[in-house]
Amino acid sequence: MLTDSQREIIRATVPALRQHGERITELFYGDLFAAHPALLNVFNPANQRPGGQARSLAASILAYAANIDHLDRLGGMVERIAHKHGSLEVRPEHYPIVGRHLLGAIRQVLGAAATDAVLDAWGAAYGMLADIMIGREAQLYAQGSAAGWDGYKTCVVVRKQAESASMVSLTLAAVDGTPPPAFRPGQYVGVKLRVPGQSIDHVRQYSLSNAPGGRFYRISVRRERAQGMARDGLVSNFIHDGIREGDTLAIHAPTGDFVLDETSPRPVVLLSAGSGITPMISMLEHLAGPAGGTRPVRFLHATVARAQHAFGDHVRSLARQRSGIEAAIFYETVTPDDVPGVHHDEPGRLGDGALAARLPAEPCDFYICGPLGFMTAVEGILDRLDIPAERRHSEVFVPDPSFLVAA
Ligand SMILES: Cc1cc2nc3c(=O)[nH]c(=O)nc-3n(C[C@H](O)[C@H](O)[C@H](O)COP(=O)(O)OP(=O)(O)OC[C@H]3O[C@@H](n4cnc5c(N)ncnc54)[C@H](O)[C@@H]3O)c2cc1C
Ligand code: HEM
Repeated sequence: MLTDSQREIIRATVPALRQHGERITELFYGDLFAAHPALLNVFNPANQRPGGQARSLAASILAYAANIDHLDRLGGMVERIAHKHGSLEVRPEHYPIVGRHLLGAIRQVLGAAATDAVLDAWGAAYGMLADIMIGREAQLYAQGSAAGWDGYKTCVVVRKQAESASMVSLTLAAVDGTPPPAFRPGQYVGVKLRVPGQSIDHVRQYSLSNAPGGRFYRISVRRERAQGMARDGLVSNFIHDGIREGDTLAIHAPTGDFVLDETSPRPVVLLSAGSGITPMISMLEHLAGPAGGTRPVRFLHATVARAQHAFGDHVRSLARQRSGIEAAIFYETVTPDDVPGVHHDEPGRLGDGALAARLPAEPCDFYICGPLGFMTAVEGILDRLDIPAERRHSEVFVPDPSFLVAA
């Protein structure tokens, strides 16, 4: 427990840490990897560029500090991080290492202001958050172990299939025959592999794109092309170009807190763009299947053009599987060959009018996944439609920007 004076110190040092948050995280990563190079196999280098994961880690620490008197407000944040950590095999023994390097970075940045009392207070605060996360992560790991899927399991690619010009699906089965542990629609798996020519392993998360309850997992991976000065995405391009049927991959048991709430009786609205379609396909397959109930479902998906449109026929056939499911597809660029009602339903982006016109009359639950620009646009539409925050569920495929808002 933190003492009153430690709480006071935390509150008093928040402004300085806010100011230097990104620098602290930069120093932290530099020292951490110098002392523990094996951890390079766990962190994604792309997320340590300025503005990426570095900001998320700094922001989450500040959010913690800002809410030191109201830990209940951090519930959602802890849940999201614990699931992400859970897909990466972050274990209790890692916490003291990370804590030591984080405090070292705080000491360097604060200079003379980093007195023993300040460092003790931050050490105690880190320890409290670490205990909460270790506890939650232990529960998640126990679920995997109970299903016979402890950590990573070697899986064989049973099938590789193109879904669009930029997306392939891999159907995966454990080499030892263990059935896939149950998961909830919307969850993801950690995929660990060694790209030829690289000296470290890389882990990436991929949402499961099939309904739970089957004999296989399916993931669907979009090829990350270089934009501007960036390089092509490492793992996604390797999966597209280097992985073949019969190859094996290390797959972590599913985790993720972006899940279909099956206790809710409300209609479900699935809103996605680009590769954000993958968790929605899992939810739609489930809702259209025998265990999916009778709730009305609206599946709205936006994509740049037909070549990039994944799961088009599959979605139409799922929508026909039971009454109450309606799908609408939006193409930003339409060509004369694109047939309305077959390939797409509306030209342009998803806007206020198009969404409002397709909603059932009663209050709905919204599930949203796509690029950050799409997320911001959709949140704006839902604000204007007065949809309360507790009926919105969202996932992004990059470090979660909500940690920045929380700070
Ligand atoms: C919860 C979750 C679920 C996900 N589900 C899916 C899914 O279902 N399907 C899917 O396709 N993806 C999904 N993703 C994204 C996926 O995990 C990967 O992030 C994605 O495939 C890109 O990985 P990569 O190795 O190809 O790219 P990386 O090598 O990680 O690069 C990522 C980006 O950073 C840029 N970059 C890298 N290094 C530099 C540099 N030095 N300078 C400038 N730019 C750089 C790259 O150009 C690229 O755009 C999910 C992510 C999360 C967090
Ligand atoms: C109390 C301590 C910690 C806090 C507050 C914290 C916070 C975070 C946050 C906010 C994210 C981003 C999640 C997202 O964007 O969805 C994250 C991701 C991550 N964390 Fe932690 N973390 C802590 C401890 C650890 C430890 C001990 C490890 C051990 C190795 C670790 C490894 C990672 C990794 C590998 C990622 C994914 C980043 C990437 O893609 O490279 N974290 N953490």
